[in-house]
Amino acid sequence: MHESSAATSPSFPQPISPDLHPVPQPVIEPLADRVISLGGPVEGKLGTFTISARLRNRSVLNDTDLARDEITEVLETAARLKKLRQNGKPHNYLPGKTLGMLFQHPSTRTRVSFEAGMAQLGGQAIFLGVNDLQMKRGETIADTAQVLSRYVDGIAARVSTHDELLQLSGAASIPVFNCLTDKSHPLQALADLLTLQERCGSLAGLKLAYLGDGNNMCHSLLLTSAAMGVNLAVAAPAAHQPDPEVVKHASWLASGSGATVTISDDPLAAARDADAIYTDVHVSMGQKDGPARAVALAPYKVTTAVMAAGRPNAVFMHCLPMHRDQEVAAEVADGPQSVIFDQAENRLHLHKAILLHSLCTPNRAH
Ligand code: CP
Ligand code: NVA
Repeated sequence: MHESSAATSPSFPQPISPDLHPVPQPVIEPLADRVISLGGPVEGKLGTFTISARLRNRSVLNDTDLARDEITEVLETAARLKKLRQNGKPHNYLPGKTLGMLFQHPSTRTRVSFEAGMAQLGGQAIFLGVNDLQMKRGETIADTAQVLSRYVDGIAARVSTHDELLQLSGAASIPVFNCLTDKSHPLQALADLLTLQERCGSLAGLKLAYLGDGNNMCHSLLLTSAAMGVNLAVAAPAAHQPDPEVVKHASWLASGSGATVTISDDPLAAARDADAIYTDVHVSMGQKDGPARAVALAPYKVTTAVMAAGRPNAVFMHCLPMHRDQEVAAEVADGPQSVIFDQAENRLHLHKAILLHSLCTPNRAH
């Protein structure tokens, strides 16, 4: 009903003369396309899984690509998929879909969770290490993107620079997912919010302290936390603080969500009364100034004293891989407050949610 009335009643003005610029016509989606039903009786044993259609065919390149309510929905989908997996219920909602995985850097969590996630959803992933592609012999990333777009339904990419990710997605005609660049790690930050939500019930009003390098991970936590109303306190030495443009953007998002963003060089002040204390490696992949960076960041190591400054039930977080006794004391990393392996597990559920939203084909029988 809604489909036909929306399609046949254009109540907006038409251009009055072909010489004038055309009046932009609003896109009216039929109601049925705003909600997608997957599975259900026609698909055999698969239960019906309903999601909104707004993330269909969408890429995730930057932390700001998803609005607050979209992040909320993705986290909810991830939690639903997690429950299905825990209960041994089939959820192969992406049959026949293929994900290409273009990786220029090593990976354990991102690679395996995407590959396993695609298999669990009934699709398949093809790992494309850059050394095995013609890119090694100079084929451009844009040509590679155009070729992959003819074979697969989406591309998960871990590339050295954010510019390369933008070149890839600019040339691709299929969704592209940022699996880490020098600038950001959006899917890790989303999975981390899922972990925080599981631990604390709700996100708005929590305090997350990030100690260490103002790097890709710090940027993604800044933007994603600010969007979701999580107060973020970053402590880093002056020379290694996050990009001021990212901080400005995060502060703007925070002003809309009621959160605060604080940048300082004082680790104990940042950790004070925090619900979660987060760190990352002091030297990221591709950084050339390792030894100097390690010295500058040593005072930002998360120790038992830092954890004691947080709330009594504060959790310790790290995206991994970690170097025990460099950025975090081994007793903290392996202690009762650590949720690092929950974070790693949640990469799987979060990636499955993103894949489902972006790559699914609606079941027209509903
Ligand atoms: N956290 C993370 O992205 O881990 P990998 O480098 O192992 O993928
Ligand atoms: N900041 C780290 C994150 C690894 C998941 C890096 O870029 O190497």
